[in-house]
Amino acid sequence: MPAPRVRVLMVCLGNICRSPSAHGVFEALVARAGLGDQIAVDSAGTGDWHIGASPDRRAQAAALKRGYDLSNQRARQVSDTDFERFDYLLAMDRTNLKDLRARCPQAHRNKLHLLLEFADTSHEAVPDPYYSGEEGFELVLDLVETACAGLLAHVRAEHDLQPRPASTQVSTQIST
Ligand code: 4NP
Repeated sequence: MPAPRVRVLMVCLGNICRSPSAHGVFEALVARAGLGDQIAVDSAGTGDWHIGASPDRRAQAAALKRGYDLSNQRARQVSDTDFERFDYLLAMDRTNLKDLRARCPQAHRNKLHLLLEFADTSHEAVPDPYYSGEEGFELVLDLVETACAGLLAHVRAEHDLQPRPASTQVSTQIST
């Protein structure tokens, strides 16, 4: 299978609530658009407290209700090589963006964005739901779903991405 043409990294603080949600939602949208072999998606946190942990169970439950399975994700911290490896690094809030900017080499600064730059919403940031109730996790998904749709349209237009014809795609179906 050819290497993906575009790599997208979702970033929050702990990598157990918001960025795993954005990771799962964007991955599902990409797959639905037939672009799973051309766009790679990952997520990471600016902090190190939860390295190796599964997404927060409240984030997993809210996401699963909307059809997104986050259970295979494990938290990791942003690494210095991420600024080279990824084409888009999407921060969930201004603090995440500031922390990324502080570490990002000048040559890659244009890759840094707030995820909600791609959403038509009055919210500027995806609010941290960690100390909120269930409604906080629903708001995260509402915002992330809107922004991921806008982000996908933007990435497709910038890179002129089209689903590959079926004859050139690797089939995972087993014929009977
Ligand atoms: P996230 O939420 O940044 O959306 O993953 C948080 C998770 C954990 C903590 C803060 C925010 N924490 O302080 O442990």
